[in-house]
Amino acid sequence: KTRVLTGITTTGTPHLGNYVGAIRPAIQASQNTQMESFYFLADFHALIKCHEPERVEASRREIAATWLALGLDTQQAVFYRQSDIAEIPELMWLLTSVAAKGLMNRAHAYKAAVQDNLAAQEDADLGVTMGLYSYPILMAADILMFNAHQVPVGRDQIQHIEMARDIGQRFNHIFKEDFFTLPEAVVDQRVAVLNGLDGRKMSKSYNNTIPLFEPEKKLRKLINKIKTNSLEPGEPKDPTDCTLFQIYTAFAEQADVDAMRHRYAEGIGWGEMKGVLFELINEQLRGPREEYQRLLADPGYVEGVLREGAQKARAEAAPFLDRLKRAVGLGPFA
Ligand code: TYM
Repeated sequence: KTRVLTGITTTGTPHLGNYVGAIRPAIQASQNTQMESFYFLADFHALIKCHEPERVEASRREIAATWLALGLDTQQAVFYRQSDIAEIPELMWLLTSVAAKGLMNRAHAYKAAVQDNLAAQEDADLGVTMGLYSYPILMAADILMFNAHQVPVGRDQIQHIEMARDIGQRFNHIFKEDFFTLPEAVVDQRVAVLNGLDGRKMSKSYNNTIPLFEPEKKLRKLINKIKTNSLEPGEPKDPTDCTLFQIYTAFAEQADVDAMRHRYAEGIGWGEMKGVLFELINEQLRGPREEYQRLLADPGYVEGVLREGAQKARAEAAPFLDRLKRAVGLGPFA
């Protein structure tokens, strides 16, 4: 069977980009009986970005409730918190011991932090924690631990998957056995990166997101805030580089997308387009939104689901880690 695995960092509230880029394709994959899926809350990763315990905690609850509200079948999929699997940081150390520093120097997130510092004429590594620097190794441990074949992600994560391959390959080579499956990123080409309110990539760090389960009124307001050009109704419009059209494409059927392309050529007004987009998204999210509120109010239930998931995940992780430890010379004395 093909193994699919993906995670979401538990900082902030999940947004349409996370849904379209990661959660929706992951849930679809989990419904395929040829697939085995592993989905998790990347809460160790959250500590790199956020040192406010209340926010980390709130976000874990929200993201857990989100997956369940969207219909993840936790009998089919293994659904867990990264921090419940102590074997993951242990594997991270084995990988850290073979990962090249030069590889980490090339990570986009690290490079961006350095560039920001240099632009501000500060020390290059100011504020860069070892957590941020070794972030890709922790992510490699997440993926390699479960020998995932496919990792559904948005385009921004492709580099990390390539690094996981690199690190896994190196370990296999050094210890002369194919311990790790080398993973591939799976990117939904329709919407590899969903744009946000200001037309840049939708991202918590840009503060331009549309939260997935915003109440109806707020959802309408946010959609009305999406940036457009100043063409009037009746003037022909170009769907390329149009955030409204891009988001529409991510939610609509292909036939409707084609029809909308015509309406752009005919000059649909921005106000009308925003109304159409709101109706489309709201219709799809209404049911899950109610379920989400119900789940947030029932943390005991969600906790139980996650503990069961952790048990299943550890049943895989623990024996595999034992094998790896033996391979590097850390086995029990016979
Ligand atoms: P994170 O939490 O930043 O994002 C979670 C997922 O959502 C995707 N995504 C988007 N997709 C399309 N359009 C957007 N605007 C958009 N914004 C975010 C991301 O690509 C990602 O798939 N390091 C990861 C979490 C992680 C992980 C893993 C993922 C930890 N370990 C192992 C896969 C496998 C992250 O911070 O994603």
